[in-house]
Amino acid sequence: MPASEKILVIGSSGQIGTELTAQLQKVYGSENVIASDIKKPQHFSGEFEELDVLDEKRLGEIVAKHKVSQVYLLAALLSATAEKNPQFAWKLNMNSLFNVLDLAKEKKIKKIYWPSSIAVFGHSTPKENVPQFTVMDPTTVYGISKLAGERWCEYYFLKYGVDVRSLRYPGLISYSSPPGGGTTDYAVDIFYKAIETGSFQCFLKEDTVLPMMYMPDALRATIELMETEAKNIKVHSSYNIAAMSFSPKQIADEIKKNIPGFSISYQPDFRQNIADSWPRSIDDSCANQDWNWKHKITLNDMVRDMFKHLTVAVDKK
Ligand code: SER
Repeated sequence: MPASEKILVIGSSGQIGTELTAQLQKVYGSENVIASDIKKPQHFSGEFEELDVLDEKRLGEIVAKHKVSQVYLLAALLSATAEKNPQFAWKLNMNSLFNVLDLAKEKKIKKIYWPSSIAVFGHSTPKENVPQFTVMDPTTVYGISKLAGERWCEYYFLKYGVDVRSLRYPGLISYSSPPGGGTTDYAVDIFYKAIETGSFQCFLKEDTVLPMMYMPDALRATIELMETEAKNIKVHSSYNIAAMSFSPKQIADEIKKNIPGFSISYQPDFRQNIADSWPRSIDDSCANQDWNWKHKITLNDMVRDMFKHLTVAVDKK
């Protein structure tokens, strides 16, 4: 990345933002990364700006002040939370994207990263090995906003030449910062409950298989995509990426290898319907062909690593 590049991360306190900001600071230097979120976190080292992404004027001022050239837009309402407040979710997820796309259209920034999700798929999408181009009929507000967002990203590329890049993240598992309001969040909570109480009540049925990924793979995918030469990017909506697929029962069985007395019970709620509308596995061969994407971390490695970090964190409490 040229030395003159400045990166603004919007939504830097969220599950992805916390880790991606730290990784970007490491790769590009703290002085080149500006974190932003609605409120300043208590402990943060580096440049930070308070920003409500719906405040277009303030966003423009921050971009001008720091001579921002790249924006990572991570602020969004996730699938479960969005169902509780559909109109606000639509407003936040769409207007934030337009605010950033328009900055690029007006040549105030050069490059955008915006995440999409497996939530863009729906009941008519094939369940296994979903191809890059397929039927997409999402039934959640979150999924509808992500699919619409993908279309708008491609539109801004085709019409205005905007360099916007995107990945359809599977459920993301991490230990640094808790996820907020997603259907795949059970796969993070289960670790905390296993360590703290030895048992977990899952809001999905035991055999609900969903595509998942460990955060270090997701961070690497994101930065690799952003560093790919523009001419190699062939998908201007959003790339499928994949790592592993598992059900609550399968992850519980892995957890039992670390905590032998661990028990799990199942109490499906409204999130079961959301999960049932999503695919079980994803074909990411386009990402592999265009920018050499390959996941590294398997279920087994992930569970081991989560316990390594979380046991330390829980012991410190
Ligand atoms: N992890 C997200 C969710 O469950 C999907 O992108 O909402």
